[in-house]
Amino acid sequence: MQIRTLTLSDYDETVKLWAEAKLPFKPKGRDSRQAIAEQMNANLEFFIGAFEDSRLVGTVVLSSDMRKGWINRLAVHPGRRGRGAAKALIAEAERILRKHGVRIFCALIEDYNTVSRKLFKECGYVEHSDIKYFSKRDSDEV
Ligand SMILES: CC(C)(COP(=O)(O)OP(=O)(O)OC[C@H]1O[C@@H](n2cnc3c(N)ncnc32)[C@H](O)[C@@H]1OP(=O)(O)O)[C@@H](O)C(=O)NCCC(=O)NCCS
Repeated sequence: MQIRTLTLSDYDETVKLWAEAKLPFKPKGRDSRQAIAEQMNANLEFFIGAFEDSRLVGTVVLSSDMRKGWINRLAVHPGRRGRGAAKALIAEAERILRKHGVRIFCALIEDYNTVSRKLFKECGYVEHSDIKYFSKRDSDEV
């Protein structure tokens, strides 16, 4: 498995993978081609892909608000799971974020997603069951 930075030419394969992985994403909002192009221009290193035989099998998208680093859009193709791809993507995500001065790594995980919760715990993340997530959005699609 190879891990490398994604570029806009990987966009179609990336959204196909997210759909196949049943990952909730926002194709008309922050995951549109235009939005991703703008995010990549700001920080290309924050888009990471795992490849097997030149085929995209996993992704992770990072963001940083300078105080914390966020692990987003972690997905592995259903046929390529259970082989350490997600663990490798998380390790690479942390390496890149550390390069950018980040020392706190975070992920928002739905309560029902027991596989992902177990994965992050195994990677050393602490689950905060006492925290409720609040957000306010201009529309459901952003
Ligand atoms: C969550 C996901 C990214 C894991 O990808 P993966 O490549 O299969 O994960 P890994 O092979 O790196 O597994 C790492 C650890 O995760 C946990 N894990 C992975 N699959 C699991 C399963 N089916 N059941 C229980 N634990 C599992 C295990 O702790 C595993 O460690 P181990 O193999 O040493 O036991 C993948 O299942 C996926 O894409 N799910 C759909 C999208 C999603 O939910 N993304 C996360 C959003 S927060």
